[in-house]
Amino acid sequence: MLNDLLKRNVDWSVERTEREPDYFARLSEQQAPEFFWIGCSDSRVPANVVAGLEPGEVFVHRNVANVIHSTDLNMLSALEFAVDVLHVREIIVCGHYGCGGIKASTEDMPHGLADHWLAPIRGIARQYAIDLGRLHSLEARQDMLAELNVVEGVRRIAETPILQRAWARGAKVCVHGLIYGLKDGRLRDLGCSVDMSIVAGGAV
Ligand code: CO
Repeated sequence: MLNDLLKRNVDWSVERTEREPDYFARLSEQQAPEFFWIGCSDSRVPANVVAGLEPGEVFVHRNVANVIHSTDLNMLSALEFAVDVLHVREIIVCGHYGCGGIKASTEDMPHGLADHWLAPIRGIARQYAIDLGRLHSLEARQDMLAELNVVEGVRRIAETPILQRAWARGAKVCVHGLIYGLKDGRLRDLGCSVDMSIVAGGAV
């Protein structure tokens, strides 16, 4: 199976080079992506593929259920690099319907370390228990929880000193929340974007 993978890689690199002889030479010089994508590790939601972006166009961080822990050094390091060095313009927190991590957070059975990782989602479920309780199917509740997890993630990203500093110096960077549908391959804007005007108290 690894050999198949390596073979596909050779085919891909040959095909790319035939189409654009200096493709890899150009990409190896620098990356200048417009987007920083924070998404779920789920193999069905690869950022470049679902967003139709080429190598070099999106900087990516993924974890189980796209949870934003405000103390996650891995995520924060990637965020700082994206904002301060790459100067990305759009940060996208992307969740997805049918997320295994969201599902696990709604179950009573133990999942080991994942339960620690998913704790913020359980907190959101408690916070919105009344709204979630109005929905009649478990799937609908999990879908809404996936959306709420994105909205909370956007808020947490916006609250980091990294974004606050960037906005204070006038950087034009916006944080968006999207949700991806496994069943139709569509990305939807959750309408929870934050940019400096909002943080500044709606002055703009
Ligand atoms: Co997922």
